Formats: sequence, C-alpha cells, structure tokens
Amino acid sequence: MKLFYSPASPFVRKCLAVAHEVGLRKKIELVPAAAHPVNRDRSVVAHNPLGKIPTLITDEGAALYDSRVICEYLNAQGKGDLIPAGPARWNVLAEQSLADGMMDAAVLGRYETVLRPEPLRWGDWTTGQLEKVASGLDEIERRAPAFGNRVDLGTIACGCTLGYLDFRYAPLAWREKHPKAASWFEVFGARESMVATRPSA
Ligand code: BEZ
Repeated sequence: MKLFYSPASPFVRKCLAVAHEVGLRKKIELVPAAAHPVNRDRSVVAHNPLGKIPTLITDEGAALYDSRVICEYLNAQGKGDLIPAGPARWNVLAEQSLADGMMDAAVLGRYETVLRPEPLRWGDWTTGQLEKVASGLDEIERRAPAFGNRVDLGTIACGCTLGYLDFRYAPLAWREKHPKAASWFEVFGARESMVATRPSA
C-alpha cells in the first residue's frame, strides 16, 4: 500500500497510528505530498480529485480517502479491532468525529494565520475555529475518565488531536484547564504507535 502523507498532518497521523496498532505499518510505503488548501498537489489529484492527504492506494490500486475511510479499511485488513461492533461502536465513532472536528478547526486556524495573506485575514473567523477547539477540549476532559485503557479509533483520534495541539498550538497550554485529559494523554501518548507517529515539520 502507498500513503500520500505529510508528517505534520494529524489526519495522516491517525491513519499511521491505526496501521501500527493493527500490525500493518510495515506494509505501507509513505509518499511525501504537499498539503495546501489552495494549491492541490497534482500527484495526489491523479488519485483523489480533492488533492487531500491522507490518500491511500491499496495493493489492488484503489484510492481511498478520507482518513475515516482509510482507518476503517486498515482496521478491516489488519489484526486489530479498533472499531467495535454493537452499542460501543457509536461512542467510538462519535469520539472520532469530535477529534476530527477539532483537528479540522485547528488546521484551518493554522492555515489562516500562516498561509492566508494578512490583508485577507478575518480575526472573528480564527476566533471561531479556536472556540471549537476549546469546546472540544472540554468534551475530551469530560470523557477522559471513561477512556481508561481503551485503544480504539476514538481514543487514537483524540490522542492525535491533543498531539497536534502540542505541535502547533503549544501556547494554548491545554493541559492547565484539562487535567484529566492530560493524565490520560501522558499514558496514551507513550504508546509505541503514538511515539512512532509524532508530528514533525
Ligand atoms: C501543518 O503543518 O500543521 C499541517 C500540515 C499538513 C496537514 C495539516 C496540517
């Protein structure tokens, strides 16, 4: 399999952490791609019209996107059970959605301050993104005691979101007001799958 990726993307990280957990990481070749909201990477567009990463090319040549589909595919192909059946499934998927929404808001906020030309920036819009991140952190704090030792798509996604905040939003100091999430992440973030996928520029 090939994965179009950027080492900074939290969505890519989620897929790679899942691949680690289900024993498929070594079967994935990483193909560097440019992640840009305006200038799509043509090498990715050739497989995914949205030009977005992560995009996975299966051994059969199918292009899979977005990260949710890739994670479900890897979970089905690998030896893990990161997406439970039965009632627990909906909780895990909701946690993934919570984390993905926070990642979206954090990445959009970053694009706004790093990529958008200064005269075109809209402060209220950035504030709105950061408010989503803040509310999401409160929800992770509320859920953290119930995370326990669970390793599934929901906890992996939440871990990747917190890792992205450490990577790009260190001044946010999210741990100060979210001690339960911080305690949980201290343990979860030390998992091999999380250490091996830490973001880099
Ligand atoms: C980042 O540099 O923060 C980033 C890169 C790719 C995708 C998302 C975020």
